[in-house]
Amino acid sequence: RAHAAKCRDCPLWKNATQTVFGEGREGASILLVGEQPGDQEDIAGRPFVGPAGRMLDRALADAGIDRQSTYVTNAVKHFKFDPPLRGKRRIHKKPNEMEIAACRQWLERELRVVDPDVVVVLGASAARAVFGRATAIGKNRGRIIPASQARTFANSDILVTVHPSYLLRVPDEDRDRAYAAFVADLRLLRKYA
Ligand code: URA
Repeated sequence: RAHAAKCRDCPLWKNATQTVFGEGREGASILLVGEQPGDQEDIAGRPFVGPAGRMLDRALADAGIDRQSTYVTNAVKHFKFDPPLRGKRRIHKKPNEMEIAACRQWLERELRVVDPDVVVVLGASAARAVFGRATAIGKNRGRIIPASQARTFANSDILVTVHPSYLLRVPDEDRDRAYAAFVADLRLLRKYA
C-alpha cells in the first residue's frame, strides 16, 4: 500500500487525487477486482464507495455474502477521467492496456498477501488484468473456473461476472433481469464464505 501510494509507473497519478488501494480482510477467502476508482473513490481514497459500490454491496448482501468478510480492489488504482466541464462531475475514462499492465504489479502483490480461495473478476478491465489478455465476460461468466484451468497468476479459483456499474446503465426494462443474473453469479461464492 505504501509503495503504491508513490507509484509513477503510468501517467494516471498526475491528475488523480491519490492512489486508491484495495481494502478488506487480509485472510479473506473472496477477493473482488473492479476496474478503477471512480469520482467518489478518488476523493475518499477507498474502493467501491460510490454508486457502483452501493450496487455491489446490495448484490453481495442479496447473495448472502458480507462485504466485510471480503477483500475489494481494482485493476487500476488511479482514477482516469476527462477534465470536468465547468461545475460538472469528472467523467470516468476506461483504462487502456498499458495502464492495466503497469498497475498489475499491485494486484499481484495483493493476491499474494491475501491469498484468496476465489477471485471475482468484475467486468472487462478486471478480466484483462487477471487473465493478462482480453477475455469475453458473457461467455465466461456465471461458473467457477477452477484454479487449475484458469491459468492466471492467482493461485485461486475464478468467478467472472459483469461490473456493477453495467447494472446502472442497462435500460430500465432489462434492469431487474440483469440484477438477478448478477446476484445469481455472486451466489456461487457462498461455498467460499
Ligand atoms: N468502479 C470500479 O471498478 N471500482 C471502484 O472502486 C468504483 C467504481
